[in-house]
Parts: sequence; C-alpha cells; structure tokens
Amino acid sequence: MSGIKLRGTGHCAPERIMTNTDMTKIVDTNEEWILSRTGIETRHHVTGERHLDLCVGAAKMALEHAGISPDQIGACVVATLTPDDLVPSAACALQRELGLPGDIPCFDLNAACTGFLFALHTMECLLAASPRKFGLVLGCDVLSRIINWSDRSTCILFGDGAGAAVVEWNESFETIHAQLGCQGDDQILHVGGVGHDRTSVLSMDGQKVFKFAVEAVPRCIDQVLTASDRSIDDVDFFVFHQANARIIDLAVRKYHIPPEKYYKNISEYGNTSAASIPIVLSELYQLGKIGPGSRVLCVGFGGGLTWGGALMEFA
Ligand code: UT7
Repeated sequence: MSGIKLRGTGHCAPERIMTNTDMTKIVDTNEEWILSRTGIETRHHVTGERHLDLCVGAAKMALEHAGISPDQIGACVVATLTPDDLVPSAACALQRELGLPGDIPCFDLNAACTGFLFALHTMECLLAASPRKFGLVLGCDVLSRIINWSDRSTCILFGDGAGAAVVEWNESFETIHAQLGCQGDDQILHVGGVGHDRTSVLSMDGQKVFKFAVEAVPRCIDQVLTASDRSIDDVDFFVFHQANARIIDLAVRKYHIPPEKYYKNISEYGNTSAASIPIVLSELYQLGKIGPGSRVLCVGFGGGLTWGGALMEFA
C-alpha cells in the first residue's frame, strides 16, 4: 500500500467580479436565464493579473496551510489550458517564483476541466519515485482570455481562478484510487491553439457536454467506490466540478447525498475549469467542513473529452 493525502489547500481569484447584470451589457441575455440554467451569479475575470499571479497566490496559501517550505517539495504539476506562455510552463514559472528546488520535475498538464485529478494521479506516481515526499498540485485557468464573446450560451459560463494542494506521499497511505478516462473529440468542446487554425477561442456544444456529464459523473463515482471497495456512506464529502448547478443537483439526487455532504460555489465563481475542484477543496477546508481525517470523493469532466474521479483523505 502507498499513496498520497492532502496536507494543505489554497485558492486565489482575480479581483474583478463580473455579475450577470454585467453580462447583459455584453450579450443578449438576462439574469434570470443565467441563474436558472446554470446557477451562476458572478464570476471573477482578470484585469491585470497574470495566470502566474493566481498560481502563486494559491500555492503560497496551500504551503502555509500545510506548514511545508518550498525546499521540501519534490514535484510541481500545474493543470491548465491557459498558461501565460507555452514555454516556460506555468509550473517552471512557479518554480522560479516560489524558489522550489532545482532538481525536481515541474511541468504543466492539460486535461481541461478534469486536469486537477489527472495532476493528482500523476503526482502520486512522481512522489513514489522521489526522495522528497511532498508535492505541489495546481489547477489554474484564465478562461476569460479565450471566451467567444459573440456566443451567449458559453460566454456567460466561465470564470478565472487557481486552486492548489500540497500532498504528502507515504508508504502507509492508501492510493487515491484515481479513475481517469478520455475520448478524443474536437467537435463537442474545442479550443484552437498553435496548430492548424491558431485561434484560441472556446467553442462548445453545451447540450452535448451536459448529456455527457450527466452520464460521466455517476460512472466515475461508481468506479471509484468499486476500486476502493467503499460505499457512498464511507464518503465524508463529495466535490464536484462546478460546471452547472443542474449537473451537480442530478448527481446529488441520484445518490441521495445530503446537503451537508456536498458544496456548490458555482454561483460565485462560474466554471473555472481546472481550478474548480481545488478551489472547492480550499474553501471547504477554510470553512471547517473538511479537515484532518476527512475522506473526499472528487469528480470532474470536461473537454477532451476527459473525465475522472478520485478518493482522497486529509492527513
Ligand atoms: O466544464 C466544461 C464542461 N461544460 C459544461 O459542463 C457545460 C454543460 N452545458 C450546460 O451547462 C448547458 O448546456 C448551457 C448552460 C451551456 C446551456 O443551457 P441549455 O439549457 O442547454 O440551453 P440551450 O443551449 O439548449 O438553449 C436553450 C435556449 C435557446 O433558445 P431557443 O432556441 O429555445 O429559443 C438559446 O438560444 O436558451 C437560449 N440561450 C440563452 N438565452 C438567454 C442560450 N444562451 C442564452 C443566454 N441567455 N446566455
């Protein structure tokens, strides 16, 4: 047996808050439609802040909560699809800013909104082979940079933010039972890049993603519970990717999850992509809803298509 546990969490969001009323001044929409169809009331968008500034804010908070100094970190993985630069990676920039050791792997990983769970699983593997037993995992996205402001069904959804976790690897810890998957599809959710079309604008068939998510979320929960030989009642808290309040509500209803065992912050943040799950973890920790000994089941899904679930404990 060996695995990772969460030691500290942190999050950071840009100062500027965009309300639904602000959205009505940009596109043909209304407050009632946005709130009832998505659960979103506000989202944070960068003005002067860089992606790196959000990463630094979240990472420092997580290190402080964990009581770990940068020189104890054995690897740094940033899940993102919107770094400031392709090279250096966001993780390399963070290594420089935080003064992380120079002899550790630091790199970015893109699994869209599921990225944080892919990064956690990657970190578990990296730390098993590292002499340093603490790792820094981030999810950070600045989706306001790639919003298509002429598409009213997607531009109202996304916010910017970063979430971070310091994890500890130990031979006696249980694995996080990560269950991850992909199905390559460039029609349902697409962001161009430095390839053939060179247009970094987000396009999404919302209804198709919705249908995919409603099927993927319970599948991930079931897979993680089977892999870990646990039941719904063994889970202290459920953390869902915050893409649409209705997707969370459907999962909660299916499993009869009581209100004290799940959390929604989509009304404040909107969909922050890879940052969504770690921001929830950090807020829950701050609120005292989860802490040492808590067992948390996280579920994510997003572009790629990608999906995943993982069961993690706080040390
Ligand atoms: O993290 C990545 C994963 N992404 C997601 O999980 C997104 C999942 N999908 C969704 O959350 C929803 O599909 C959306 C919120 C994107 C859209 O909600 P919907 O209920 O699927 O709406 P729709 O696209 O079917 O559109 C319904 C109606 C249409 O009008 P008609 O044709 O019925 O007259 C749209 O034109 O709502 C209209 N509409 C809007 N009206 C006011 C679409 N966007 C807006 C808007 N304001 N912003």
